[in-house]
Amino acid sequence: MKNIIFIAPPAAGKGTQSELISNKYHIPHISTGDILRKVMKEDSEIGEYVLEVISSGNLVKDEIMYSLIEKRLGEKDCQEGYILDGFPRNVEQAKKYDEILDHLGQELGYVIALEIDEKLLAKRITGRRVCEDCGTIYNINEPSETPEIESTCDICGGKLYQRNDDNLESFKNRYQVYLEKTGPLKDYYEKKKVLYKVNGNQSIDEIFEDIVALLEEHK
Ligand code: AP5
Ligand code: MG
Repeated sequence: MKNIIFIAPPAAGKGTQSELISNKYHIPHISTGDILRKVMKEDSEIGEYVLEVISSGNLVKDEIMYSLIEKRLGEKDCQEGYILDGFPRNVEQAKKYDEILDHLGQELGYVIALEIDEKLLAKRITGRRVCEDCGTIYNINEPSETPEIESTCDICGGKLYQRNDDNLESFKNRYQVYLEKTGPLKDYYEKKKVLYKVNGNQSIDEIFEDIVALLEEHK
């Protein structure tokens, strides 16, 4: 399986689709946001820094991202392909990612852009709940994504929490950062002929069907 990266605004469904792809194709889902949320819990200077940056909706320093990414992509389970969700997020990171791939002897693979109307995102942001034990993502604003028992994970019984950047104020900045810094990556990858656009306004299943179709068509 070729590697996959996602370019999409906050709450567009990167994590949701990555999990579905990971289960179908048996390749790891690497979410830089999830990695940083673990760092954020550490009682250390870097933990405090990451907590502050994520809460505000800005980007963590590139150098921190590079060391986290290089270490993770070098692990054995990434040799047969992986889904990278959340990196690169600006042109500098994209250039560095090209270097990391060269160094690891890996290819870019697919770059999937989930295209979605901004007005749908606020509803997804405010309704998201995540299991603190297994990471399953829910949405209390979407009947099909609501847990059976309030605040409890259907899969493992873990407690559901709301991310500290899942509020409208932080979302406003995250969306702005996306438009200014991450959006231009679509051009970057279009020039390399590896960009695939998918309509993110559809249901989770419809988006997944479109993604599987493009992966199968461009094997
Ligand atoms: P990150 O965790 O990557 O956050 P994000 O990009 O804002 O994306 P989200 O995780 O919010 O959304 P998603 O697209 O995964 O959506 P999901 O599937 O959960 O990054 C967080 C922060 O970390 C950044 O702001 C930054 O500070 C830092 N960071 C991370 N990477 C970095 C980097 N490379 N450099 C520097 N800093 C970095 O879905 C959202 C909700 O919608 C869920 O509730 C879900 O159930 C629901 N949903 C999903 N799809 C659908 C659908 N089709 N219909 C209806 N509901 C849906
Ligand atoms: Mg996510």
